[in-house]
Amino acid sequence: MIQIDRRHFIASLGGAAAVKLMSSEAKAEALEAYMMAQLNSATAGAGQAQPKKFPKAAEVEAQIETRHYRRGVGNLFLTTEPNGKVKKLWPMPAKPTFLDFFTLRMQQTSNHVLQSANRAMKTGMPEEIILACLLHDTVHALIKVDHGYWGAQLYGPYVPEKVAFAIRYHQALRFYEDKEAGYEYPDLYRNLFGEDYVPSPHIQADYKMLKNHKWYMEPRLVTVNDLYAFEPGVVVKIDPFVDIIGRHFKNPKEGLGNDGSPVAHMWRAMAIPDNPL
Ligand SMILES: [Fe+2]
Ligand SMILES: [Fe+2]
Repeated sequence: MIQIDRRHFIASLGGAAAVKLMSSEAKAEALEAYMMAQLNSATAGAGQAQPKKFPKAAEVEAQIETRHYRRGVGNLFLTTEPNGKVKKLWPMPAKPTFLDFFTLRMQQTSNHVLQSANRAMKTGMPEEIILACLLHDTVHALIKVDHGYWGAQLYGPYVPEKVAFAIRYHQALRFYEDKEAGYEYPDLYRNLFGEDYVPSPHIQADYKMLKNHKWYMEPRLVTVNDLYAFEPGVVVKIDPFVDIIGRHFKNPKEGLGNDGSPVAHMWRAMAIPDNPL
């Protein structure tokens, strides 16, 4: 298990006063991000030659029945706080846009995806890659298992084909190293899936297809930026990306969820996740 240095964690959030202002949900989220970053910096090594201990896939599987939820469930549908209760959500505007969903329903991944989009922007990547980075994990609000495919479907009607392609296949490429492109297999995945985990057949098949695809670099660049987007205490604002969203994201005039598209129900499920049916 990762050891948490409490003082360092609080300092990374801006000190005790800043922590006091955070909701318990935000704190839980920050702790998760912090732990992920700890895992990542353990990966980087930082000159420490400590042997790393990763679980085996069988050990990861043995944890299933220790939880009261399944790991693939969407963030809006559970709280992982011990004895936690979910919070009432902010109401959505009548005709919600992507930015409304991003700020009111996708908070648990927003800092991570903003950090990854920020890196894409700073390193001069094309706008379509920046947008793909900004969207790549946001579907976690709805569902986490197979999130690349769900995410591409959710955004498909509203973004350029290349953006949806990058979102869809970043999930598969996360499992495969490409050192030349700057992507190493992350220790985060060794921890999440087990060090001897073998990706599912659909992931293997997609990787095989992608290797020779003319758009291989689109999802690959998303994975490259993904690696550096778990920095605790680093807060990136949405402002630098608003113009890019405006240029490439076609918000329907009726609002997302109201446009009768094949994915409208997915947006509605995020807008009203407390509805019992
Ligand atoms: Fe992802
Ligand atoms: Fe990610």
